[in-house]
Amino acid sequence: MEKYVIRGGNPLRGTVDISGAKNAAVAIIPAAIMVRGVCRLENLPQISDTDTLLRVLSYMGASVRTINRSTVELDCTNVKLDSLSEDIWALTRRIRASYYLIGAMLGRFGAACSTMPGGCNFGLRPIDQHIKGLTALGADVRVEGGFIRAAARDGHLHGTKIYLDKVSVGATINIMIAAATAEGVTVIENVAREPHIVDLANFLNSMGADVRGAGTDVIKIRGVKELHGGTYALIPDQIEAGTYMAAVAATGGAVKIANVIPKHLDCISSKLREMNVEIEEGDDYVLVRREGDLRHTNVKTMPYPGFPTDMQPQIGTVLCCASGLSVITEGVWDNRYKYIEELRKMGAQIQVDGRTAFIQGVDRLTGATVRACDLRAGAAVVIAGLAADGVTRVEDIQYIERGYQNIVGKLQALGADIKCVDEPDEPSALRPAWIAG
Ligand code: EPU
Repeated sequence: MEKYVIRGGNPLRGTVDISGAKNAAVAIIPAAIMVRGVCRLENLPQISDTDTLLRVLSYMGASVRTINRSTVELDCTNVKLDSLSEDIWALTRRIRASYYLIGAMLGRFGAACSTMPGGCNFGLRPIDQHIKGLTALGADVRVEGGFIRAAARDGHLHGTKIYLDKVSVGATINIMIAAATAEGVTVIENVAREPHIVDLANFLNSMGADVRGAGTDVIKIRGVKELHGGTYALIPDQIEAGTYMAAVAATGGAVKIANVIPKHLDCISSKLREMNVEIEEGDDYVLVRREGDLRHTNVKTMPYPGFPTDMQPQIGTVLCCASGLSVITEGVWDNRYKYIEELRKMGAQIQVDGRTAFIQGVDRLTGATVRACDLRAGAAVVIAGLAADGVTRVEDIQYIERGYQNIVGKLQALGADIKCVDEPDEPSALRPAWIAG
């Protein structure tokens, strides 16, 4: 199996270019189903999640033309519901964002079907708020046999007022997409405010929609008859940028993180400054420098503009290298500490009690064979490997490649000793018995 082999200890230096935002891309690609005409999408990240969604659309009848590494022209004019097939379900089961196909198909055709979504396992990931919103827009939505099926009661959706009981990125996005062509006005209250929500609104508006208020907690959508083609460039990935910032904090060194929106990184920059990391902001870059020792701090994850849950494992790893006791409180997911077991193999001292992790900094982490348990947990063990003494082998890297474009090449360019190798997984039977216990 392919794995990353990292020899830790090199401080990172140089410049890294951040790719387009994964969580914007996985919303915007399905939303393109609503568009009759050519959507030219620029700054798309080259990661397996976007690749999977583009394949789904292509199986559904879309024409997908690759212009260059980060630009795709998508034409969904000929997408048809009767093209849905087992080939598509095999792909939609792999990713979380496949539920956006429901909002998009409902908006375009008044009917929709997809599998229940896959994605990272953080404990329960209910979709009741998606269902509540789509139902309020006039659809009957059923979950049965591993599928979500929806049909507009009178053939098309109608605008209405929807209050989300929980701030949900996914529900906000799904309802926004579906409501773009609903008859009348939709008002969604208590919505998520993440940068990718604003990006989706900007995409829809550039294709002729009328979406206002994205970035605040109330979004108002005046339904339009149909969406037309256009060109749209995605925002840079806040979490990819934050991951490289955390990597520099852990290894020391100085890196220019380029092609970012520094405002989106404020919550991450503030925490790193508390930890004795220097951050200098430019128009579209941040310079991250860490020379002295790291200081402990406390982190609580929250919906945007709070500290992002998608950065919790990476910052947790940095805190393992800081002096003193740090406390992390996970405010979004029930079970996002699976990476901790892996960090413990590298000498980290962490106790978990429910949603709280107590991290006692250690002098050094030591290389070990570890797993990427999910996307960000994978990023965390890569950072740990870069900072650790000795060699770290990271297995199950397919999770990391769902969301990080060319992570190995980007880290190598910063001076990291990391490579992707194809070698058999360490067979547990060959380990000495005293380790197996
Ligand atoms: N929730 C409900 N009901 C719902 C939907 C969500 O109770 O109908 C709860 C969830 O259980 C959770 C909270 O609301 O406790 C927030 O969930 P949200 O819907 O915001 O998450 P998501 O849309 O499933 C997206 C990102 C995740 C990121 C979260 C939170 C995508 C494809 N995924 O998930 O990203 O952690 O928002 O910011 O956009 C990642 O990139 O590594 C990742 C996991």
